[in-house]
Amino acid sequence: MKIIACNLKMNLMPSEVPKYLEDMQGIKNEVLMFPPSIYIDNFVKAGFTTGSQDIGIAEKGAYTGDISITQLKELGIKYSIVGHSERRTYHIDDRFVNKKIELCIENGIYPILCVGETHEENISGDTLKICYKEIDSAFIDNEIKDLIISYEPIWSIGTGIIPSNEFIEDIASNIKKYVYNKYGLEVRVLYGGSVSDENIEKLEKIESIDGYLIGGCSLSPESMKKIVHTVRGF
Ligand code: PGA
Repeated sequence: MKIIACNLKMNLMPSEVPKYLEDMQGIKNEVLMFPPSIYIDNFVKAGFTTGSQDIGIAEKGAYTGDISITQLKELGIKYSIVGHSERRTYHIDDRFVNKKIELCIENGIYPILCVGETHEENISGDTLKICYKEIDSAFIDNEIKDLIISYEPIWSIGTGIIPSNEFIEDIASNIKKYVYNKYGLEVRVLYGGSVSDENIEKLEKIESIDGYLIGGCSLSPESMKKIVHTVRGF
């Protein structure tokens, strides 16, 4: 079954959460939710399969402002996004992807590893090189048995610009081949970047894509219902 993951990023006010949860109830068994950490408890209690947008680099200790995987796990998360490009840009997550993947493995949490190139890297034809490098960094010293990779071209995130289906197919299928040949692992590959109810039908034609990581559009329950409808066929 295809994964439909909603990354709410740093959105929704506490006062807006109850209505959002109510509006999403009808599709709660169809989506994975990645709300801001302060709302994880609300989402779990409302019956959503929930993940965190990030985790701290240790299980506990002196890490001001961070939230640990053990704390999040006790709240009920099943997944965690690791290495989202916004974390790599505004924090120094490139350095910690490896450690965060290790923490996910140790704690039985499914990691969703985000990889993807900048616009310049895309123009210079380096997309796969960047993706492979980011994938390799996750595998250093890690015994990964199950991994979901989200291919997210940075230039597509929040811009409304999406690569062609052929391009996404090429990247996704090569990522699968690369991980299988190098690490003997069959991975699922999601696509993330400006996915919406307007382009989902077209994206659905891409063979190698196993689901979507949806940012901006996930804030609209109406749009999410249309996406679920298209992907699940009901
Ligand atoms: P977007 O974000 O759908 O708003 O482009 C996707 C993501 O960052 O995961």
